[in-house]
Amino acid sequence: MKIIRNLQELKSVLNDWRKEFKIGFVPTMGALHPGHISLIKESKLQCQKTVCSIFVNPTQFNDKKDLERYPRTEKEDVKLLIAADCDIVFIPEVNEMYPHKDERTFDFGHLDKVLDGAARPGHFNGVAQIVSKLFDAVKPDKAFFGIKDYQQVLIIKELVRQMKTNIEIVACPIMREKDGLAMSSRNTLLSTQERKLASVIPKVMQSIPSLKAAGYSFSEVKKQVASKFSGNGYRLDYFIISDANSLIEDEDFTDSHQQVVLIACFIGHIRLIDNMLL
Ligand code: PAJ
Repeated sequence: MKIIRNLQELKSVLNDWRKEFKIGFVPTMGALHPGHISLIKESKLQCQKTVCSIFVNPTQFNDKKDLERYPRTEKEDVKLLIAADCDIVFIPEVNEMYPHKDERTFDFGHLDKVLDGAARPGHFNGVAQIVSKLFDAVKPDKAFFGIKDYQQVLIIKELVRQMKTNIEIVACPIMREKDGLAMSSRNTLLSTQERKLASVIPKVMQSIPSLKAAGYSFSEVKKQVASKFSGNGYRLDYFIISDANSLIEDEDFTDSHQQVVLIACFIGHIRLIDNMLL
């Protein structure tokens, strides 16, 4: 596997490869876990060459402390990528990606005004800044994203439309721990006690289809969920049901369109998210 740290070298290797091979791209912020590796595997199934990027993108962190404590585990990440037979890992410094302040602002309409967009002002603009730069550099045929970050996938699809590129966005399923907790780099920041509390999140999510089938309204489900998170150590940020494409909030369950339930919750200082398509 090639480890590349500057854009010029990345572009020149890929310019050669692009003539012969389909290129798959998996952007990450590192601290890799099997969720990330599942994206590498999917890329390897669909493309002949796979590029992974590891870059903790400062412009998508609206909280400086969150940026500082974000886990950085380059050595282990590189080992995992070699084991997964990734072809290139691109690990730039901040100056390489942002030689000048990026002043671009993106307009995603309703999509980035709600949920994490509302809770983390500027977050998706930062995501769009870095992903558009990475897409420009890698020019992949396909890029692989996890629906763990459901809202991010919709925004990236919209970004690609706005960039007028032909990059195909492939949305991949959520990889989970044994107790169902969605794998996340942030899980490593939880204390043992907090990790136990976190297992309530998948339990709540898994109970939704049967509650829906039993005829409970979403507001009744919401009340139950709020009570589960009312104890010490939790703070529910949002628990919402929306149209799965527009993210326009619905009041209740319906079968007239595809819906998604999304949750964000603080366990101590760590904010975790999860979602489920109904
Ligand atoms: P990061 O949080 O490192 O996630 C990189 C990719 O891995 C994302 O597409 C995310 O949805 C996916 N992923 C994370 N946990 C997963 C899981 N449990 N199962 C499946 N896929 C999972 O998302 C980002 O980085 C950044 O915002 C980025 C797009 C790289 C831009 O900086």
